[in-house]
Amino acid sequence: MIEAVHTTGHEPSSPSIPRPTPPPDGDAAPRRVQADLTGVPETALWTLQHRAAEAARPDTVLPDPRAVQLMAELEFPFLERLGATRPWLAQAIALRALAFDGVVREFLAAHPDGTVVALGEGLETQFWRVDNGRARWVTVDLPDPLALRRRVLPHGSRQHLVACDARERRWTAQIDAARGVLVTAQGLLMYLQPAQATRLIGVCAEAFPGGTMVFDTVSRRFSARTRSGTRGLGGHRLPPMPWGMDAAERPQLRTAHPAIVEVCGIPLPAGRGLLGRLAPRLTALPLLRNDCPLLTRLRFDPAPALLPGRPRRPS
Ligand SMILES: C[S@@+](CC[C@H](N)C(=O)[O-])C[C@H]1O[C@@H](n2cnc3c(N)ncnc32)[C@H](O)[C@@H]1O
Repeated sequence: MIEAVHTTGHEPSSPSIPRPTPPPDGDAAPRRVQADLTGVPETALWTLQHRAAEAARPDTVLPDPRAVQLMAELEFPFLERLGATRPWLAQAIALRALAFDGVVREFLAAHPDGTVVALGEGLETQFWRVDNGRARWVTVDLPDPLALRRRVLPHGSRQHLVACDARERRWTAQIDAARGVLVTAQGLLMYLQPAQATRLIGVCAEAFPGGTMVFDTVSRRFSARTRSGTRGLGGHRLPPMPWGMDAAERPQLRTAHPAIVEVCGIPLPAGRGLLGRLAPRLTALPLLRNDCPLLTRLRFDPAPALLPGRPRRPS
């Protein structure tokens, strides 16, 4: 899909799409915003639903009042369309988000004025969990989920929204890479065809020398199940996830582009209860090794001299 690229820098929200307005005469509950997403964009509501359910617990692993508030502001038949949340799954989704937060925090510690590019960010409220007051933040998503995001979240002057299919190279031209770049893709690459995912990784490696990319993947087995029409735990049909990758294949990611100089697995942080204790070691458990979602961090060569057409770096 090709849509016009649109950025916003300084306005907190688009004038044509108002933020939820409080009802007149002191009624406490604000009017809710219709979230009419379908297909893959609808999955952004599923992940939000789970993070918010986890964040609402007193013993949460992911404090996120913004996500809890956002859930209360959205009008969407969550139960009918996506089923009920299960506490263990809500924790698992929250631990994934927490692992991404860790990579972002590490990046911002080294590059306090750096740019975080969140591909397929949907309704993630990560910015409000990790912001250091200086970072630049770019959300890239398809037009409909991006319009909803713009409407329901209060973006400030360091946040930019780009309506663009992440498979299109041209969003990279919107990125200020002068102070370091981290590209995140949480819950996105599995929805791409394998060749599209590899190409996107290559585009990032080429566009952001010295940059970092972090993403998650599902296993080959899980990918196959979604392609054969399996239903999610809530009874809803899962959109096909064409790209699956097992842990043993991860080192091959290095071949996606010559500028990839490091491929590294990121473990889930520890959480609550048995699942929480097992989470950091899931990929080491023989029964689960090939059924686990994986988090992977790539680093790109700061001076990729060996790329075609570039002069060879002196040794
Ligand atoms: C599972 S949701 C993840 C949302 C968010 N990252 C999170 O973890 O809550 C998938 C997101 O990817 C977006 N998406 C899917 N295909 C895309 C594409 N080709 N380009 C940009 N965004 C895409 C969807 O609109 C949706 O927001």
